[in-house]
Amino acid sequence: MISPIDDYTIFKRKIKELIGLDLDGYKDEQIKRRIKILMDRVNVNNFLAFYRAIEKDPFLRKDFIDKVTINVSEFFRNLDQFDILKNRVIPQLKDHFKRLNIWSAGCSYGNEPYSVSIILDELGIREFNILATDIDTEALKKAKDGVYKLEELKGVSEERLKKYFTKIDNESYRIVDKIRLSVRFEYLDLLKDKYPQNMHLILCRNVIIYFTQEAKERVFRKLSESLETYGILFLGNTERIFNPQNYKLKPVDLFFYKKEA
Ligand SMILES: C[S@@+](CC[C@H](N)C(=O)[O-])C[C@H]1O[C@@H](n2cnc3c(N)ncnc32)[C@H](O)[C@@H]1O
Repeated sequence: MISPIDDYTIFKRKIKELIGLDLDGYKDEQIKRRIKILMDRVNVNNFLAFYRAIEKDPFLRKDFIDKVTINVSEFFRNLDQFDILKNRVIPQLKDHFKRLNIWSAGCSYGNEPYSVSIILDELGIREFNILATDIDTEALKKAKDGVYKLEELKGVSEERLKKYFTKIDNESYRIVDKIRLSVRFEYLDLLKDKYPQNMHLILCRNVIIYFTQEAKERVFRKLSESLETYGILFLGNTERIFNPQNYKLKPVDLFFYKKEA
C-alpha cells in the first residue's frame, strides 16, 4: 500500500515555495526538534497549522529561519586548527598560488572570514580575495557591519583585540576597516545555488552537520569542484569525509583536505 504523504513532507514543500528554503537537505529530526519550540509558542500542534501561521506572520517567519539556520560562531573557532591554517596550510598554498581565492561557505556573522583575514594580515599576505556566503540575510547584515559584543570575541587574544578592533562603547567593538573591507559577503545557498570556481581555500565548517547524508555528498562533490588542484578544504571539528578519494580529496591534517589532480 502506498503510504499517505505526511504533514511534514507537505510542510517542507510549502516552505520551499514560500521562502525558497529547501528543508529536504536537512535532517528531519533536527529541524522538527527545533521548530517544535516555535510551534508550542504559537500554540499549534501540527505542521500545516504551523505553516499557515508562518505564512501570515513575517516575524514568526524570521524566527523560523533563525531556528533552522543556527548561527553560532566564534572568532578563531578551534584555535589549534587556525594555528595549523596559519603556520602550515596558508604558507603551502602560497607556494602554489600567487593570489589566494578564499571562500567561507556558511559564514554566519563573519567571525570566520574575518579570522582568516586577520591571519593573512599577520603573515603579511596582501594578495587575496575572501568571499563569505550564507543563506541567513540577517546574519550577513551583521557580518558586513562588523560590530561584536565583548562576549562574542572570546577567541580573540588581547593583542588581536587591540590591533584589529576599535572600541565603540563599554560593550561593543568594531572590526577595523582594513579587515572588514577585505571580505565580500553574499547570499548563497549551498543546497541549490551555483558555487564559485577557482578557489584555493574553502572553509565550510559547522554547516553540513545539519544536512542529510545525500545532501552532504552533493555538497562535498561541489566544494571539491570549486577547488583548484592543490587547493584546501577546511572542515569543522566534528566533520569528516569518509571516502575523500571519491571527491578527489586527500586528508592532509585533521579537518584539512587537499584537492588532487
Ligand atoms: C553554526 S553556523 C557556522 C558558522 C561558521 N562557519 C563557524 O564555524 O563558526 C552555520 C551557518 O550555516 C548557514 N547555513 C545553513 N544552511 C545553509 C545553506 N543551505 N547554505 C548556506 N549556508 C547555510 C547558517 O545560516 C549558519 O550561519
